[in-house]
Amino acid sequence: MMRVMIILGIESSCDETGVALFDLKEGLLGHKLHSQIQMHERYGGVVPELASRDHIRRVIPLTQELLTMTGLQRSAISAVAYTQGPGLSGALLVGAATATGIAYALDVPTIAIHHMEGHLLSPLLDTPRPSFPFISLLVSGGHTQLLRVDGVGRYTLLGDTVDDAAGEAFDKSAKLMGLSYPGGPAIASMAQTGRVGRYKLPRPKLHSNDLDFSFSGLKTAVLTCIKRDQVQPTDYPDLAAEVQAAIVDVLVAKCLKALKETGCNNLVVAGGVSANQALRFKLGEQLAHIGAKGFFPPLALCSDNGAMIAFAAALRVQQAIDGGKDWKTCCTKKAAHGFDVKPRWPMDLLTT
Ligand code: KG4
Ligand code: ZN
Repeated sequence: MMRVMIILGIESSCDETGVALFDLKEGLLGHKLHSQIQMHERYGGVVPELASRDHIRRVIPLTQELLTMTGLQRSAISAVAYTQGPGLSGALLVGAATATGIAYALDVPTIAIHHMEGHLLSPLLDTPRPSFPFISLLVSGGHTQLLRVDGVGRYTLLGDTVDDAAGEAFDKSAKLMGLSYPGGPAIASMAQTGRVGRYKLPRPKLHSNDLDFSFSGLKTAVLTCIKRDQVQPTDYPDLAAEVQAAIVDVLVAKCLKALKETGCNNLVVAGGVSANQALRFKLGEQLAHIGAKGFFPPLALCSDNGAMIAFAAALRVQQAIDGGKDWKTCCTKKAAHGFDVKPRWPMDLLTT
């Protein structure tokens, strides 16, 4: 095997500790993930302090396991990429400090990556790869955005949520039904035996003239519906099916509108909610109608993971090399051994 340059990627922005090794030529060499879902489940959501402490416990053993699994020596690593933001500040600090420590020990540079850029580029890890330009729908627990992507680092924000994110709408609706955290998979699984249309929920901003989203009214509508229609737990599959359909309908409509308005033919969907099968199915159907193509990350890489962070860094390095620049221009510029995190970091600031 011909290895060119190996990047270690570390993700720790929320409730998953992820590490990965990516080679510029060979691709993804391996990745490891530890999910904290079980730990946070009893609290009904992520507890930031517990998340940070668990990242501290997991990140080094996980990295060691990854090296053993891939049969690589530490000295094979040429750069360490980490999620600099957005996310929980304590959780981000663990990844940033660990990455900087490892990089210092190995005498290699660090590369700071935007978490959502990691998600956005993750469908390119699969084949066939979408070609630029494409429209990207980023749907996670904290984001619901439509972007036009003209290349690595060339992102134009087309639409955003004005309040709750799509994942948040799943999570909050699930909580109202007493389902476990995270709510997306719980609602999706319950919806499998449910019937859409028995209960009526709004499709917020479905026909608005913009590409923005608004999901905060949905949880209120779910609560009103439960009370007004005296929905019993045995009826929850029908309610879950309606919640999922309401979110999916809006996401699909806005994606089609974005494709139409920009004349783009390729749609990329990424972030935790991109694992949703109903969304994949409906998008697939609608895209086929207009002769457009949809691209999703591999299922295992839909939620947070280290592979997307190492990969985003590799694409930036490759871009620098292709542009005839020293690859170290994409490394973190900072005071010696210093590091910082950006818990809030608007993605349009990334555009180069
Ligand atoms: O990207 P992600 O893992 O973390 C963030 O960066 O937020 O996304 C987590 C979100 C949660 O809101 C979760 O409920 C949602 O993704 N999610 C899903 C599914 N799997 C995860 N939503 C709907 N259907 C799913 N299958
Ligand atoms: Zn994420």
